[in-house]
Amino acid sequence: MGAQLTYKGKAYALFENESVLDCLLREHVPVPHSCCAGACQSCMMQAVDGSVIPGKAQEGLKASLTSQGFFLACQCVPSQDMWVRDPDAAGFETTVSVTEKRFLNAHVIALSLTPVRPFAARPGQYLTLMTPQNLARSYSIASDPERDSVITLHVKLFPDGAMGGWLRSASLGDEMRVRGPYGSCFYTQEEDTTFPLVLAGTGTGLAPLYGVLKDALAKGHEGPIHLFHGSLKAQDLYLEEELRALDGQHANFTYIPCVLHTDGASNAYTQGDFKEIVLMGLPQDKARARLFLCGAPDMVNALKTKAFLAGLSSKHIFVDAFLPSRSAPEEAQQAAS
Ligand SMILES: Cc1cc2nc3c(=O)[nH]c(=O)nc-3n(C[C@H](O)[C@H](O)[C@H](O)COP(=O)(O)OP(=O)(O)OC[C@H]3O[C@@H](n4cnc5c(N)ncnc54)[C@H](O)[C@@H]3O)c2cc1C
Ligand code: FES
Repeated sequence: MGAQLTYKGKAYALFENESVLDCLLREHVPVPHSCCAGACQSCMMQAVDGSVIPGKAQEGLKASLTSQGFFLACQCVPSQDMWVRDPDAAGFETTVSVTEKRFLNAHVIALSLTPVRPFAARPGQYLTLMTPQNLARSYSIASDPERDSVITLHVKLFPDGAMGGWLRSASLGDEMRVRGPYGSCFYTQEEDTTFPLVLAGTGTGLAPLYGVLKDALAKGHEGPIHLFHGSLKAQDLYLEEELRALDGQHANFTYIPCVLHTDGASNAYTQGDFKEIVLMGLPQDKARARLFLCGAPDMVNALKTKAFLAGLSSKHIFVDAFLPSRSAPEEAQQAAS
């Protein structure tokens, strides 16, 4: 007989090589999840009653979480019986209310959420946003939740997106839940604030970079800061006016809006392949430079390798690849029905 999984007092038989997440979803138990690849942490659960957690299920989690039995349900393939519970029981979740929805361009909204209690997070980290139906997606934090007491996200609304659809019809005051924060994409103040900072992202990859930029400027970063924001067309960029104004106000900050196609002749944008533009723009002082890469996974992974080969230290490269959800089509259908 295979291993058994117990959740909320009910026992489920696990198939061979089946993850905790797949078993619960197969049994129609609505567990929050998104990437199903061990990256977003939205499927985090807690093992109890002496359950043995496979090592892979805790990879990438902070020691403070692993020591309390937290694990990633999508990466957890038990070989023995396990007893698991939701992490909210351990005070890991915060209720938030929708306080503002504002279009930044035709497809991206700035979503402001007010937490019922302080939410400790650094600008640039990410969180899991959950609807009352347990639909979960990861989003990066563009504001400073501790200073502003508001969490601002930049959300791209895909035409058939499950979360995008939910947010389109959400009203101000509607309640959601957030878990987190996660990730290491944030500005770290060091004694020496003169190192070069390169921020590069496509689409809503700007969200964490905007958080990091504002934090670095607020903390008086003295070294050069270059922000590369890439899109296919100029209309897909956003916050352009504000970033151009910041560029004018801060001698050490340069904003480089990049587009693959310009409609007609325009020298307002750097045109070409985003990865090549960023690589060409890396600073001379590669040994001290910090590079933040956020957005499309292909771009992030390719630039991470190329920047390392160009001389940046791997410990100075911080990445957030915006992996899509695994079960996007089915969830989008459910959300629409
Ligand atoms: C660490 C992390 C941070 C993230 N931060 C952000 C963020 O700050 N802002 C943000 O907007 N998103 C971010 N994402 C992506 C986000 O979690 C969702 O995947 C995205 O918002 C789509 O969710 P949805 O439910 O609306 O669409 P889904 O229901 O998941 O997808 C529906 C359809 O939308 C289309 N689609 C979805 N994702 C993509 C994609 N990446 N490329 C092309 N087509 C796609 C596909 O047609 C898909 O079938 C992040 C992801 C990760 C892992
Ligand atoms: S880490 Fe498990 S769903 Fe993303």
